[in-house]
Amino acid sequence: MYRMGVVGLGEGRSIMSAALNSSRWKLAKVCDLNRELCEQRAQEFDFHEWTTNYNELLEDPDIDVIAIYTPDQLHFTHVCQALEAGKDVLCTKPLLPSLEGAKELMEVQERTGKHVFVGQSSRFFEPMKRQRKDFEAGRNGEVETVEAYYITDGRWFLDKAWSRQKGFSWMYNFIIHAVDLVRWYLPDIQEVTGFGRSSANNAAYGLETWDTMRFLMRDSGGRIATVSGSYTLPILDLAAETAMGCTIRGTKGTTRGEYPNLRYHTRFEGEEPALHKMDDMHDYYFRFEGISHHAGEYQNYIEYFAECLDQGVTPMPNVEEAVTTLALMEAMERSLRSNGQVVKVKDVLEEYWAKVR
Ligand SMILES: NC(=O)c1ccc[n+]([C@@H]2O[C@H](COP(=O)([O-])OP(=O)(O)OC[C@H]3O[C@@H](n4cnc5c(N)ncnc54)[C@H](O)[C@@H]3O)[C@@H](O)[C@H]2O)c1
Repeated sequence: MYRMGVVGLGEGRSIMSAALNSSRWKLAKVCDLNRELCEQRAQEFDFHEWTTNYNELLEDPDIDVIAIYTPDQLHFTHVCQALEAGKDVLCTKPLLPSLEGAKELMEVQERTGKHVFVGQSSRFFEPMKRQRKDFEAGRNGEVETVEAYYITDGRWFLDKAWSRQKGFSWMYNFIIHAVDLVRWYLPDIQEVTGFGRSSANNAAYGLETWDTMRFLMRDSGGRIATVSGSYTLPILDLAAETAMGCTIRGTKGTTRGEYPNLRYHTRFEGEEPALHKMDDMHDYYFRFEGISHHAGEYQNYIEYFAECLDQGVTPMPNVEEAVTTLALMEAMERSLRSNGQVVKVKDVLEEYWAKVR
């Protein structure tokens, strides 16, 4: 059994549920600055090992892995502290809210030799898992294009003070799910162009970052991807549009995984189109009120993480993969800022490494 400490008990609620329901993990201790929240979680899960002091997790020899669910702006510090304390790390997305600090973090990871596994939760949703399995079995044939979107009315998220502070953006916090899905299938995206808008709804919260974005990308093999996101506009109901979708179109088959609907659409050559419904898994994925927490994905990724630790394999996405995604996002941002100019990821990375060398 691997022993887990958790810091940040908002979304950390899902990882608590996952660890407590796993035969491979022992939840050792949890931490949040907010004492009331610690007490609330203690009551909810009947789990009473909590602290408001992160150092207690760092210094605890009975913790192997620290799972980090603090605000994006604190990930750098909390990840580095955990690594320096000799812990393996599970960090929620985004690993960092920009490329800043990436080099230092990579150096600390390399020096300590500890794992940093980034919890890109969408990869672990049932329809996305099924889609990946079919892709790996070659059922799509040659992939020509990947279309990913994450469109939701995220205004509820802006109740969190840190989401209105420097370092928060819809780009790094929200659209990253769609970007990561694209990179999962097309890891070598080389160039991107896009347009962005900041609506009056966004401005009402004092936010200046783009809340609607549309991107077109191309990888080294000329394959095309699109990524879309809108975050403060009213959305249609789930029957009309799902919050997230990833469509892969290939020479032998087209598939689409959806979220939060447990739906997977397929059309393989020589077969009828099919809709695979996984509604029976609803309570596994969504364990609390509503669907804003999706603990089943976390369950899946900690089981995967444990499997990797057992096998001595690096869990993915690791730091390198996460940093390449951040570089792509920096390229996306630059394209928005330059009103649609095509930006190459290679240029962003070269410039970054030249700057921090
Ligand atoms: N799908 C996903 O994977 C997913 C979904 C939601 C949130 N997240 C990520 O989880 C992270 C947290 O988001 P959230 O929605 O839970 O935010 P939140 O504000 O609800 O929770 C963050 C918690 O961290 C605590 N905290 C802050 N600094 C701390 C410190 N130094 N020591 C201990 N506790 C500290 C706060 O008190 C707060 O309770 C973000 O990085 C977000 O991007 C991921």
